[in-house]
Amino acid sequence: MYSRIAGTGRYLPERIVTNSELATRVDTSDEWIRARTGIERRHIAADDETTASLSTQAARAAMDAAGVDAADIDLIVVGTTTPDLVFPNVACLVQERLGIPACPAFSLEAACTGFIYALSMADKMIATGSANCALVIGAETLSRIVDWNDRTTCVLFGDGAGAVVLRPADTPGVLSCHLGADGRYQDLLFSPYGTSKRPPPDADDVSYIKMKGNEVFKVAVKTLEGLVTKTLEAHQLDKSAIDWLIPHQANTRIIQATAKRLELPMEKVILTVQDHGNTSAASVPMALDTAVRDGRIQRGELLLLEAFGGGFTWGSALIRY
Ligand code: ACO
Repeated sequence: MYSRIAGTGRYLPERIVTNSELATRVDTSDEWIRARTGIERRHIAADDETTASLSTQAARAAMDAAGVDAADIDLIVVGTTTPDLVFPNVACLVQERLGIPACPAFSLEAACTGFIYALSMADKMIATGSANCALVIGAETLSRIVDWNDRTTCVLFGDGAGAVVLRPADTPGVLSCHLGADGRYQDLLFSPYGTSKRPPPDADDVSYIKMKGNEVFKVAVKTLEGLVTKTLEAHQLDKSAIDWLIPHQANTRIIQATAKRLELPMEKVILTVQDHGNTSAASVPMALDTAVRDGRIQRGELLLLEAFGGGFTWGSALIRY
């Protein structure tokens, strides 16, 4: 048994913050942000929006596209690093909002690789017959942990959610997922406090994102190059077999480096970072949904999804759409 993507969806909050607007708050410019990252704007959640509410919207769109009802869903997996609450987890909140009957529902943390990790878990549950209709979501409200006075990070991140519905199929589907992590790099990209590790009394209570961007950049490029090579080798596939690269949307320059490694022209790469910045776990499913809905990705085509993020974590998914 294999799993297959039956439908995709995404949701971006209404409020858009342009580079020029950010330049009125911190010492930066539209030119610098575009040249270094490719980002032009980002969407920011309203005060009454949360990761669960963004997830719910994206999930509804994916369920509509797949033609499934709440009663059909029997597994929910959410990749996120910005959950609404310590508990219940975001998947349980989505379950309640969508009226999905009792089923396994959990969230997992793998920073920007969260969706690929979630997809991998759901794929295994479908492939082993433990689930029959899985809702897989990547969603973030990173704006809540961005230091809006730090120009080195605040220009990079945004909020959003993407979702897919996975169903069983006789033919693949998800061909394979390759996951990895290396905790030795934790000092290059992290959020210093959480539930168990509390800030000292005199520190700011918000655990802002801290990143040594330049060093992250170098490890990301090298790791992603190795990852795509390993993924192709596992299937004895030539680079030319890939129809579409759907990368984590952190930085156009990182994406270009991976595309070069695959000898893929940028026309074969789904690029959405300009429209919403780095939305961490949400970026891959949102890029997938964008290209499915605008008709670029067609049934039967071979997709390579990849991501890299805090941890460090990384992952790829090779999918026959
Ligand atoms: N506007 C203007 N100048 C800036 C800004 C800004 N917003 N930010 C930094 N600068 C300055 C720096 O202070 C530095 O100035 P100096 O030379 O006088 O010291 C100069 O620009 C160059 O800074 P670098 O950090 O070397 O710039 P770089 O070209 O590396 O670009 C960036 C920075 C965009 C962050 C890049 O390194 C990057 O994209 N890194 C990877 C991010 C990533 O992929 N993260 C993983 C996923 S995120 C997750 O998991 C949550």
